[in-house]
Amino acid sequence: MDNKRRFALVGTGNRGTTMWGRELLAGWRSFVDLVAIADTNSLRAERARTMIASNAPIYGDVDRMLAETRPDLVIVCTPDDTHDDIVVRSLESGADVITEKPMATTVEKIRRILDAERRTGRRVDVSFNYRFAPTAARIKEMLLAGEIGRVTSVDFHWYLDTEHGADYFRRWHAYTERSGSLFVHKATHHFDLLNWYLDSAPVTVSAFAGLQMYGRKGPFRGLRCKLCPHKERCDFYLDLEADPFLDALYEQPSEIDGYFRDGCVFREDIDTPDTMVANIRYRNNVHVSYSLNTFQPIEGHHIAFNGTEGRIELRQYEDQPWETAPEDTILLVRNFPKGKPAVERITVPHFPGGHYGGDDRLRNTIFKPGMTDPLGQRASARAGALSVLCGIAALQSSLSGKVVRLADLMPELFEGEGDALAGPAQSAAGGRR
Ligand SMILES: NC(=O)c1ccc[n+]([C@@H]2O[C@H](COP(=O)([O-])OP(=O)(O)OC[C@H]3O[C@@H](n4cnc5c(N)ncnc54)[C@H](O)[C@@H]3O)[C@@H](O)[C@H]2O)c1
Repeated sequence: MDNKRRFALVGTGNRGTTMWGRELLAGWRSFVDLVAIADTNSLRAERARTMIASNAPIYGDVDRMLAETRPDLVIVCTPDDTHDDIVVRSLESGADVITEKPMATTVEKIRRILDAERRTGRRVDVSFNYRFAPTAARIKEMLLAGEIGRVTSVDFHWYLDTEHGADYFRRWHAYTERSGSLFVHKATHHFDLLNWYLDSAPVTVSAFAGLQMYGRKGPFRGLRCKLCPHKERCDFYLDLEADPFLDALYEQPSEIDGYFRDGCVFREDIDTPDTMVANIRYRNNVHVSYSLNTFQPIEGHHIAFNGTEGRIELRQYEDQPWETAPEDTILLVRNFPKGKPAVERITVPHFPGGHYGGDDRLRNTIFKPGMTDPLGQRASARAGALSVLCGIAALQSSLSGKVVRLADLMPELFEGEGDALAGPAQSAAGGRR
């Protein structure tokens, strides 16, 4: 089919190989053609190509790949601090881009991407798959319908368990220079959800953050689990070779560039906090209380929207040592029922696939022809920029002890554009900015 999108995949770690490689070709093959794979680690790229079941050529150099294969879409799945360079080169070659989150890690990098998008007239999508989770879509519909009146505050708390949370301390994510810290790398999802739910922009942030478990807080340390003298007594010991996927995609290719996936979570040079809280004030006067914790016995989140007419509340269970229902329940509680039920329990089924079906919905919205986007779930570069900026502001506040104004960090992001963070439905619903 001639109208298939000819895409190149840059970065063949777990994310590139699964979400944007194997799964994309398995489910959306009639809309896309993989024309090139690029990674600085040739063995990982080869392993990924086998897992993806493709025969696309492999490149170590992105510029050469762009020049020789002329993709019309580049999907960027490399470490966070490298996104801007690859996004800008791809846009300049004439391609559109889907970049993994966070879009970038610094104000300068955000600027480069926004400038290149403007200059080239191409499009950047940011992979904010959480917007597409079934519960997120349902909550967004309820907010748009005005179920709780004007939203005045949000309680938002995210819990990462000792497996998922620790993974960020094993590799490049643990360094602020590479990931922007977890206020950027991880919280970009959460800040984006808030921006999208509230259809507004964060104005000021104050935050606290610290290392409480990992890094220099650990009782002992080594270089990496595989070689560690403490493996018998370490709660965080990871045996990469016991997992055939991780062994083939990470451990064996690590011989080429020394990038191993089982770095000690207690390395003394780790500088990203593992425990974070932030208060955020929005342009529409909503106040948010947010936290992110990375060593919990549970995985999931709690979010509650408090409004003039009531409250919407969700406790999303993802993993915990007790049984939970096979679906989610959103509570809608009314201040003044006036003939309506004081409380409604809205059940939202789980769908198969990543993020309870959210990953598939994201790919459908981007790749299936004729898809509409009534909830404005498809995220622009501006949305990518705002959520990263909120994380940068939070980190800065936690380091300085001062309240940080986002417009002081990047004034141009707030000039003359109103709050247009996403699609037309939100502007149409408007009125509650
Ligand atoms: N949206 C989500 O839910 C989600 C989930 C996981 C990861 N991610 C994002 O996906 C991205 C990749 O994550 P990952 O866990 O697969 O990372 P990873 O470190 O496992 O893989 C990154 C790959 O990029 C390659 N690479 C590094 N620099 C490069 C360069 N300059 N040019 C070409 N290749 C280069 C590395 O060799 C490696 O193979 C990150 O930005 C991460 O934040 C998003």
